[in-house]
Amino acid sequence: MRHFIKETDFTHAEIKHVFASAAAMKAARSATPPSTLPLARQSWGLLFFKKSTRTRVSFQVGVSELGGHPVMLNAEELQLARGETVGDTARVLSRYLHGLVVRCYEHSLLEEIAQFGTVPVINALSDYLHPCQIYADFFTLAERWSNGDPTRFLESLKGRKIAFLGDTACNMANSLILGGALFDVEVALAGPPGYEPHKAIRAQLLRDRLTPTWNFTTDPFEAVRDADMLYTDVWVSMGVEAEKSERLRQMRPYQVNAPLMRTAKPDAYFMHCLPAHVGEEVTQEVLDSPSCIIFDQAENRLHIQKAILAQLSARN
Ligand code: CP
Repeated sequence: MRHFIKETDFTHAEIKHVFASAAAMKAARSATPPSTLPLARQSWGLLFFKKSTRTRVSFQVGVSELGGHPVMLNAEELQLARGETVGDTARVLSRYLHGLVVRCYEHSLLEEIAQFGTVPVINALSDYLHPCQIYADFFTLAERWSNGDPTRFLESLKGRKIAFLGDTACNMANSLILGGALFDVEVALAGPPGYEPHKAIRAQLLRDRLTPTWNFTTDPFEAVRDADMLYTDVWVSMGVEAEKSERLRQMRPYQVNAPLMRTAKPDAYFMHCLPAHVGEEVTQEVLDSPSCIIFDQAENRLHIQKAILAQLSARN
């Protein structure tokens, strides 16, 4: 059974195909002939343990646009919340559904569902990785840096430099580290002391035989120098709300603001996976500037996830 639980679950050839499919689906949205809908007569479960706007709606719409039926499952409303095991839940859901999209806290829960279930599993965010977001982000950059030429998407990423600022120990930082190695992009991470990326992500690169392309600094200006794109995420992710006041204090120097943007390349983009907390990790001025491409990013979640769904459905 093929899954999409981490960025490296697809080969380079498959990623190339996924990006090209996303571009084609984006160009011909809703015009796909019914006979070629890859999820026709399929039902896909969307199992969410955490809140979501973009991921939830883009997967619901994406499954529908591919001819399938999305089944929204709030983890709190399942017997899981009353102690039914993950294994039994995965086995039972596999008898009804053709695939599962899961957003959860512990990454091991995704692996457990994949182990006990018999349908493909897609990671819709765990505390460790957010691979759908990263594919959409690199796709968004590739669209721009290739001038919209899908045959040049992957090569247009090679040798670029991106900088991630703030909570450099979060799932988005981990996913950028994996994505950077996959796409041959330098990833400069700048965060407070103690927020160095976890050992687990270094081990993941080794397991996937990928050459690391990332570095860590506590100096935000050093990280963004000559960068082609600046990226940030919320400073207080879901599950760490108890650390809020300490995190806001520690991460303040890593706010993406106009002086930091001016230190990057003149045509550098600003990205954020959203939701944004204006005045914390980013200023309104940066969000309102022409370099900000956050809504293209958000839109591309739909197109890239449709391509991932189609890829998994063809390979399973
Ligand atoms: N970026 C992202 O995953 O957004 P949601 O939390 O709204 O799904």
